[in-house]
Formats: sequence, structure tokens, C-alpha cells
Amino acid sequence: MTDTAELSLAGKNSEYPVLSGTVGPDVVDIRKLYGATGAFTYDPGFTSTASCRSALTYIDGDEGVLLHRGYPIGELAEQSSFMEVAYLLLNGELPSADELGKFETTITRHTMLHEQLATFYRGFRRDAHPMAVMCGVVGALSAFYHDSTDIHDPQQRMIASHRLIAKMPTIAAMAYKYSVGQPFLYPDNSLSYTGNFLRMTFGVPAEQYEVHPAVEKAMDRIFILHADHEQNASTSTVRLAGSSGANPFACIAAGIACLWGPAHGGANEAALNMLHEIGTPDRIPEFIARAKDKNDPFRLMGFGHRVYKNYDPRATVMQKTVREVFDALKVSDPVFETALRLEEIALNDSYFVEKKLFPNVDFYSGVILSAIGFPTSMFTALFALARTVGWVAQWNEMITDPDQKIGRPRQLYTGPTQRSYVPMSKR
Ligand code: ACO
Repeated sequence: MTDTAELSLAGKNSEYPVLSGTVGPDVVDIRKLYGATGAFTYDPGFTSTASCRSALTYIDGDEGVLLHRGYPIGELAEQSSFMEVAYLLLNGELPSADELGKFETTITRHTMLHEQLATFYRGFRRDAHPMAVMCGVVGALSAFYHDSTDIHDPQQRMIASHRLIAKMPTIAAMAYKYSVGQPFLYPDNSLSYTGNFLRMTFGVPAEQYEVHPAVEKAMDRIFILHADHEQNASTSTVRLAGSSGANPFACIAAGIACLWGPAHGGANEAALNMLHEIGTPDRIPEFIARAKDKNDPFRLMGFGHRVYKNYDPRATVMQKTVREVFDALKVSDPVFETALRLEEIALNDSYFVEKKLFPNVDFYSGVILSAIGFPTSMFTALFALARTVGWVAQWNEMITDPDQKIGRPRQLYTGPTQRSYVPMSKR
């Protein structure tokens, strides 16, 4: 294997080191390219660019592999808990029973919000999208913890990380409660992270809320499946915002804004809406034809991925979890049959086969979340809640990376060259 790459540009040769990770493609270190040649690289959407080093998450998109700190997502989803995965992502190793207990206690003790934030909610319209509310409220946390957050102090960074992970369920549940006009519920420290979130979302002060163990387990697993995913758009946004030394709460608010888009976290909402629009399996061919039509902007939501060119391993777990939730709640939903049939038809269609378009994590998640009782508008908020773990872990990793610099991409300029100002009378 070569350890340098040669480039010949305008008759000048230059050499660049080739760096190897523990697994995955090598990367050509082009940091000196501009100095050596005066040229930039052009890579819209970063399809061939590694923006950082990271030891958190590894994806092999061709093989459909997803590892967190080396552990396969399927094993974590089956055998661990969201709190364990959060600890793993933040600290690098699985916790001992004692370490996990202490971590859970720390998170539990940070779940309450400053009372002033309840007033903040009341400034939103009742029909505001929960992601708009989450973006605003998480951004507002920076006003509450600005002076106390020195990002160069590891201890203070960890406290900010714990606060974010702990408060996110409270923030998301309050966004839901506000939208349905019900009173906010305070966290209950006797419950698990996920059980507490379910109670704050679906409970009411007037009666006792019993957490359904199967729903709690499924919800916890959904959180695990969304915890981190390498340098995706929202994580890159958090890193870019954080690269300037910005307040961590503000950086996570930026991540939430990015996640909201339908090409990213908003796809689970869009996928379920699409399944409802399709309605019955006999209408699938019509929608498949639309997805294939170049002149129609319609895409099969929950299908395709920038990195996975194989079945998204999270979609496999998600499909299994749908059945478990249906069995536990003794419900069924015709939309699941439509989804299964749509998957089967698409995976046998040459368009989807040739372009390697497979179901992604969002394809089945909406079916489960709606069986649990969440409105579609909450789907992306749940994604944000879980992904906060990955965002803060990646943010911490970035701050401690000695190679870290403020993110400042360059461009290929295509506008007018310098010209003289034209006075209004001559235009
Ligand atoms: N339906 C129909 N055609 C598709 C779809 C789809 N869902 N996804 C990709 N294609 C086609 C594109 O039209 C393109 O065709 P072309 O080569 O003839 O131009 C080709 O497949 C490659 O697609 P790109 O858009 O170039 O792939 P990219 O990596 O940029 O996009 C993305 C990935 C955004 C996820 C895309 O597949 C998509 O829009 N999917 C639907 C939305 C979705 O499910 N997003 C969730 C992603 S997972 C997550 O965020 C958790």
C-alpha cells in the first residue's frame, strides 16, 4: 500500500500523505494542497471528504455495518440500554454496573428545566412544529448556562453534555404537551430515562401513569438506533458551529435545525405521511412510477442513503420492533402491510436495485411511533432527543482534537469579476 499520493497540476508535481484509520478507506491528507498548488478541491455535499478524525462511529455502507466504539448496532439494540450506549459514546468504553448506576443517577438529577423556561414555551403558537420549539428552547438554554460553560474545561464540558442529554426528554415532552394544551409534567426520578419520557409525554397530573414495559423497551431501542451516525449533516453542523468555540447549547440548537429537514431527520415524518397517502398496496405501482420519473420531484421517503448502499442495519431492527410493539399492544396497522409490500416491490425493481436504494432507519420508525401514540410531528423531535447523545460526544471529541480548526470551507467562485459601481440613474 502506498503512503503518499502524487498530484500533477499545471506541470508541477506535489505529494500528499495517505492516512489510514483502524478500518475503512484511507484518506489523502490534502491540508497542504492550497499552499503547494494554489488550487482547492471541489466536493459539494462532501461526498469524498473526511472532515475530521473520529473514534466514535464506523459505517461500512456497502456491507450495511454500523459500529459504535466497535460494537455492532444490532448487538447494542438487542442487549444494552440507551443510557449504556450514551455512556459508551461519551466515554469510549461500556460502563461497569457501578459506572452505569452513577451515570444514570447523574442524568436523572439533571432532568428538570429552569422554571423560567415554562414561560418561554408560552410564547410559541400552539400549532408550532415541535422541532421549531425544540430549536428555540435548546438555543435558549445557552442563555441559562452561558457564563458557567468554559468549553476548554473537561469537567464543565461534561456537565453541559449531561445537562443536554438529561433535559432533552423534558424539552421534547413539553413541546408535545404544549401542542395538545395539556399541563407540563415534571420529571419523575423513580423512572428510567425512557420511562420518564413516556410519562412526561402521555401522562396527566390527574391520574397515575403506568409505563408499559414493552413500549418502554421499544422506545429505548429506537433511541439507541438514533444515538449517533458518524459525520451526518446535523452532526457536521454541530461540529462546524462548535468549531468557532460557540456555546454547546447553541451548537445543539443548530444541529436540531439541520436535522429538521425532510432529506435528514424529517424523513420519518415524510415516510409515514407517504405510506398513508399510498393507502393500499394496489396503489404502490403508481408511487413507484412517480419515484422513478425524472420530471417528478417525488422520492420514496425512507429509501436511499448517502452512505448505505445496502440495507440500513437500523431498518432491520426497526422492522422487527414494529412486530414486537404490535404484539405487545395487541394492535395492527394496515400501513405496516403497505410498507412491507412497498419494500418488496422496490427491492425487486431494477431502478432501486441499480441505484442501490434500500430502506433506511426512517422507513419503519414512523409505523412504531404512531402505534405508541406519537403524532407524526413529534417523530423528528424524538430523533433529536436521541441524537443529542451523538452530537455532544462528537462535539467533545472535536474540542479535544489537536488538529481542530475553525471550519472554513473554500469555494469555486462563479459570479461576476470585479466591475465598477453603476449609479442608479444609469441602470
Ligand atoms: N426515491 C427515488 N429515487 C431516489 C431516492 C428515493 N428515495 N433516493 C435517491 N434516489 C435516486 C436519485 O434521484 C439519484 O438518481 P440519479 O443518479 O438518476 O440522479 C440517485 O438515486 C442517487 O441519489 P442522490 O440524491 O444523488 O443521493 P444522495 O446521497 O445525495 O441522497 C438521500 C441521499 C438524501 C437520503 C436520498 O436517498 C433521499 O432523498 N431519500 C429520501 C429521503 C430519506 O429517506 N432521507 C432519510 C435519510 S436517513 C436519515 O437521515 C436518518
